[in-house]
Formats: sequence, structure tokens, C-alpha cells
Amino acid sequence: MSVKYFHLTVKEIIEETPDTKTFTFWHPVHQSVSYKAGQFLTLIPVINGQKVRRSYSMSSSPNKDASIAVTVKRVPNGLVSNYLCDNVKVGDAIEVMEPMGHFVIEPNPMKERTIVLFGGGSGITPLMSILKSVLPVEQGSKVFLVYGSRDEENIIFKKQLAELELKYEGRFKVLHVLTKPSYTWTGYKTRINQASTVIFLKQDFAIDIAKAEYYLCGPEGMMEQVENALNLFDVPKENIHKEHFGSTGTHEITQEEEDESIKDQTVTIQYEGNDYQILVKAHETILEAALREDIDLPYSCQAGMCTACLGKCVSGKVHMDEEDGLTDKELQQGYILTCVAHPKTAGVVIEVE
Ligand SMILES: Cc1cc2nc3c(=O)[nH]c(=O)nc-3n(C[C@H](O)[C@H](O)[C@H](O)COP(=O)(O)OP(=O)(O)OC[C@H]3O[C@@H](n4cnc5c(N)ncnc54)[C@H](O)[C@@H]3O)c2cc1C
Ligand code: FES
Repeated sequence: MSVKYFHLTVKEIIEETPDTKTFTFWHPVHQSVSYKAGQFLTLIPVINGQKVRRSYSMSSSPNKDASIAVTVKRVPNGLVSNYLCDNVKVGDAIEVMEPMGHFVIEPNPMKERTIVLFGGGSGITPLMSILKSVLPVEQGSKVFLVYGSRDEENIIFKKQLAELELKYEGRFKVLHVLTKPSYTWTGYKTRINQASTVIFLKQDFAIDIAKAEYYLCGPEGMMEQVENALNLFDVPKENIHKEHFGSTGTHEITQEEEDESIKDQTVTIQYEGNDYQILVKAHETILEAALREDIDLPYSCQAGMCTACLGKCVSGKVHMDEEDGLTDKELQQGYILTCVAHPKTAGVVIEVE
């Protein structure tokens, strides 16, 4: 089954903070784009005549909000985030890929659980979708949010979060953590790190830490620190879910890899009922080689984080620069991310659904 593409028309643009805007979209005529809380959309705007792709998590809830929404925070000198915030207007249509991602929650009215969300900056977006989806459905569950921002002015969804806290009093608690607050701030002035995480969980939330479910989305360092804290309490790995937004940096190929494994190889790609044989040059990823050959494979972040380019290696061996985007089970089953994968042997065959 190939990936679906849609053209979504901008319905409304909301200024959330000085550098963050929410874009809501109409569903396409005669169909609705279905998604799960926590998933992302890949936007494909045309900038300077070139189509570019970036992933944006939906900040809307599939079961509560009529429109689909993404919330974009400007990245200094960032191409797409600034283009969207500066140029896109109500009524414009943007091409998007169908929603994707595994950082999801399925609200279940039978469940009574404790869900703890840790967000930093724009990492609040999928968490907002998750909490808005879970709270009305799971009346016996409790949701706690630790949200790190720079200062009061930069808290995304500040008002909506306060309203939800009132509406779901006793079941939803928000803890804002600021690094550079104003003098009048009476809340936490700290980073979300290992030590502060323990305090939030034990003192502020007083929860059974080992039994809760955790959803983390923010800077890599923050997520690492939170995970370290959760490990102190033996929280099972399957109860910790993470979404990576940021750039992972370029992988530097070692001399050893260069000599021994990564060389020009012919790779077969099975996609939409066709077999394509492509030459993947040393240092090129399988995705780059496929796009060079005009094979329109799905992709988004091109950094091994979003899983839009998922494929399965059914023959031969590949090396991945970055494996964090896949679970251990997926890796064992032969799944790969073509955007960070290089053929290591001859005869590599990749199935892309
Ligand atoms: C699954 C997923 C979901 C995402 N959801 C959201 C979302 O809901 N809201 C949102 O605002 N962003 C989100 N992002 C990040 C988004 O896709 C872009 O990476 C971001 O908008 C920057 O793109 P750009 O074109 O403006 O910057 P680029 O032109 O790509 O980058 C410019 C510079 O900024 C650095 N950079 C790139 N991304 C980041 C970042 N996230 N933080 C800090 N520095 C960065 C780059 O290394 C580069 O040096 C998500 C990313 C992923 C993978
Ligand atoms: S394109 Fe995002 S993981 Fe490959």
C-alpha cells in the first residue's frame, strides 16, 4: 500500500507565542484525514521552486477537534519553520503526506492509568494532542504534564493548559518549569534534568513512579535526563515513549567502515509492485540514491527520526547511521530507515510498503 498525499487548505492561523504559530486545516472535501493522537504530518511546501519536507506533530486531537492542527516554532535560520510562519496565509493549500509515527496513545475508557508527559519547547505539540484525547475518554486516568519553557512569554498553549487543568481538576496537573523566568515567577526555575525529574514525580505528583506511563518530547538532553531518572525507579522500557524532533547531526563514517563495508552496491527496491535496481554510491543513503533515480519513495525528516521512510531488508545486510527511530523488535525483524541506511553487502533487497 503506497503512502497517500493530500492538499490541505489553511483554515486559521493562531499566534501562540512571539515565535510560534498554530495552523489549522480543513479536511479535504469528501474525505477526512484520520490520525492518532501523537502522530505527525509531513508538510511539503514549495520554497524557491523546490519542494521541501518537514515533519510537524499534530497538536489537535483526533477525537476532540474538528480541524487538524500543527504548531510550528521558528528555528533560528530554519528554512521551513520561518517560511510557514512568515508566508503561509489562510486559504493557502499545502501538500502533506498522510499522518505517520509511533509516538501514539490509544485512549481507552476501560483504562485507569497514570500518564506523565514531559515536554520542552515545541515538544509540547504531540503531548497536547495526547492529553486532549485521553482526558475526556479515560475518566479513571490521571495525566501529569511537566513542561519546560524559557520564560512565561514562551509557554506554548499556556491558556489552553490552564483551562484544561480547571476543567479536569483532580485528573490533570501541569507543572511549568522555566529556565529564565521574570522576577514575579513563583514556580520552578530550573531545567528538566535527572534531579528535578525525581522531585517532580515524588513531591509534586506523588505518584507510583514504576507503574506510570511516560511520554517524552523535547531536546535530546532533556529526554536523556528524564530517562535516567526513570531508570532509577526501574520503570519498564515499554512504558517510556519518546519522540525526537531535533537534528541528530551527520554521521561521520570511520575509516574502517569506509574500507570494509560501505562501497558502491546495487540495491533492489520493491515499491508499489515494481522492482527497481539502483546503484547506491559509497556515502550515499539508499533514500538519496532512490530519489536521484526519480523513485518517489516516502520520506520526511531524512534524519532517522520520523520513520516515514520505513522499509524492510529482506535480503543482504545494511548499516544504519542512526537506529534510535526503530524499536529493538523492529530492528530484529529487519526493518530499516532508508534515509540513514547504506548497503553493507551485495544483493540487498528492500521492500517499501
Ligand atoms: C517527528 C517530528 C515531529 C516534529 N514536530 C514538530 C512540531 O510539532 N513543531 C515544530 O515546531 N517542529 C517540529 N519538528 C521539527 C521540524 O520538523 C523541523 O525540523 C523544524 O521546524 C526546523 O526546520 P527548518 O526547515 O525551519 O530548519 P532547517 O533549515 O532544517 O534547520 C536550520 C538549522 O536548525 C537546526 N535545527 C533543525 N531542527 C531543529 C529543531 N527542531 N530544534 C533546534 N534546531 C533545529 C538544524 O540543525 C540547522 O542547523 C518535528 C520533527 C520531527 C522529526
Ligand atoms: S525520513 Fe524520517 S526517518 Fe527517514
